[in-house]
Amino acid sequence: MKKFIIGLVIGLVLPAVVGYFYLSQGFAPIATSAKPMPFEQKAASMIIHAHMSKEAPKGEPTIPADETNLTAGAAIYTENCAFCHGVPDTPTSKAAKGMYPLPPQLFTHDEMVTDDPTGKIFWKVKNGLRMTGMPGFNEMLTENQMWQVSLLLKNADKISPAVKSSLVKPAAPAAAAPPATHDHDDDAGKPGHHHDHNAHAH
Ligand code: HEC
Repeated sequence: MKKFIIGLVIGLVLPAVVGYFYLSQGFAPIATSAKPMPFEQKAASMIIHAHMSKEAPKGEPTIPADETNLTAGAAIYTENCAFCHGVPDTPTSKAAKGMYPLPPQLFTHDEMVTDDPTGKIFWKVKNGLRMTGMPGFNEMLTENQMWQVSLLLKNADKISPAVKSSLVKPAAPAAAAPPATHDHDDDAGKPGHHHDHNAHAH
């Protein structure tokens, strides 16, 4: 019995105490630039993988990867994703470089998700990835829009020049945009007005 109790202390209580000490004394990393905790990356990818194989929709998406859907996907991407995940042939944004984990640059060869099933991409877009900075878009985009942007990423290496050129560098985040002015009221209809309008929409 005595041995059992000693075993119990060493086996269960000690790791708990050490773990508590590690967290409570500020040894666990908080800064995005800090080194990952022991086993952090392994555990994270195991958790994501296990979840995904349970919940991601299996089979092909209900909409085709045609030019219409990919163009719509590109517009959704430019507005909601490009700031973190980048667009073709453009340097990574400063904010994206300061995150942990880093947002994969989804139009670069090494980091695109073209090998993933579209359903898995869809799951991540819909639900987000907790504590990574990856938002869930379930409340903000329709099912159709989430499939369109997922198809775009699935086909990131095959998109037409037209779709590619519509993936423009996003405007600065809304908070940094200059306040709206009223001076374009009188040039309504002129090309300049159209431009102004787009700038405010982002
Ligand atoms: C605020 C930054 C941010 C925004 C905005 C964002 N993401 Fe992410 N996303 C991330 C981060 C960070 C990760 C990496 C998570 C990880 O490492 O587990 C990620 C991961 C992903 C992944 C998984 C990539 C992989 O390698 O498996 C996909 C797919 C994805 N995002 C798609 C999107 C789409 C589509 C949008 C827009 C609708 C979007 N993200 C918007 C930060 C962002």
